Amino acid sequence: MIEILNVDHFCQAVPNLEKQSNFLQKVLGLVPSKISHQPGFDNQVLSIPGSSRLGWELMSPNADDSFLHRFLDGARGPGLHHLTMRVTSIRDTKDQLLELGYEPWGVEQNVAYLHPQKGGQGFLFQFYEASDENVWYDTEPFADSKKNTIGIKSVDHIAHAHQNVGELVNWYHSTFGFSPYTGDSVNTSSGEEFKIGLLQLPSKQLKIEIIAPAHSESFVQKFLNERDTSVHHLTLEVEDWNRATAALAFHGIRTFGERSNVGTESLWNEAFIHPKETDGVLLQIFWQAKPGLWE
Ligand SMILES: [Fe+2]
Ligand SMILES: [Fe+2]
Repeated sequence: MIEILNVDHFCQAVPNLEKQSNFLQKVLGLVPSKISHQPGFDNQVLSIPGSSRLGWELMSPNADDSFLHRFLDGARGPGLHHLTMRVTSIRDTKDQLLELGYEPWGVEQNVAYLHPQKGGQGFLFQFYEASDENVWYDTEPFADSKKNTIGIKSVDHIAHAHQNVGELVNWYHSTFGFSPYTGDSVNTSSGEEFKIGLLQLPSKQLKIEIIAPAHSESFVQKFLNERDTSVHHLTLEVEDWNRATAALAFHGIRTFGERSNVGTESLWNEAFIHPKETDGVLLQIFWQAKPGLWE
């Protein structure tokens, strides 16, 4: 098992960095750092408001022969490209990957990867060893006080689609030590369409949700047919539902799949923002009156 200290950031690969950065700042309220220019790509890390202490990195190609074109033009692009986690030691991580039966990929002094097609379950995982001189992303929780932004409270989960819930739950557990998690509240989203499993990260920054098709006509099955197992959506909790919906209306961003529960004891709302609005990331947003009402 690979010992994960915390999640540093996740990364979205897009054709046009400025355009998506503008969306993340103006609509989602993220706070940008400087754009940096690397061989083959430009990147920028933006801080996500709320309690999750996570960065949202953007990468876009800056040359015709950039490695990113293959991703962007492939079945999974544009969209979430990798998830970066801090480890205590890259040397140990390499050994742990080998023990798990995976060949470490792209190994450098402080960095190693688990390749999407060589063990990563359709998603690229990046590990890096932090030191005092080498911390990539680090921020304290902060509130979003900007105007016309949705007001993110936290990143609730990343959802990963797979044919079999138990298999992928076990994989996350045995590969990274994430714990299978059952909230004490109703499951609002399983329905007839899909089956669901949840894992909590030791750092409690976010959860991983596993979704699997309940039958062959399920939208999860269609997703798997097109993209195979990979990340399906990202879920954000907002502070105030009226603020969030007003901000989306202000920017002309359409939502779908609105649901709410209006019982006095269990007030919550949710909606989805289509990947076309977000350069390839299906976003779920929700608000709940009290922690634990919406799971
Ligand atoms: Fe990254
Ligand atoms: Fe979800």
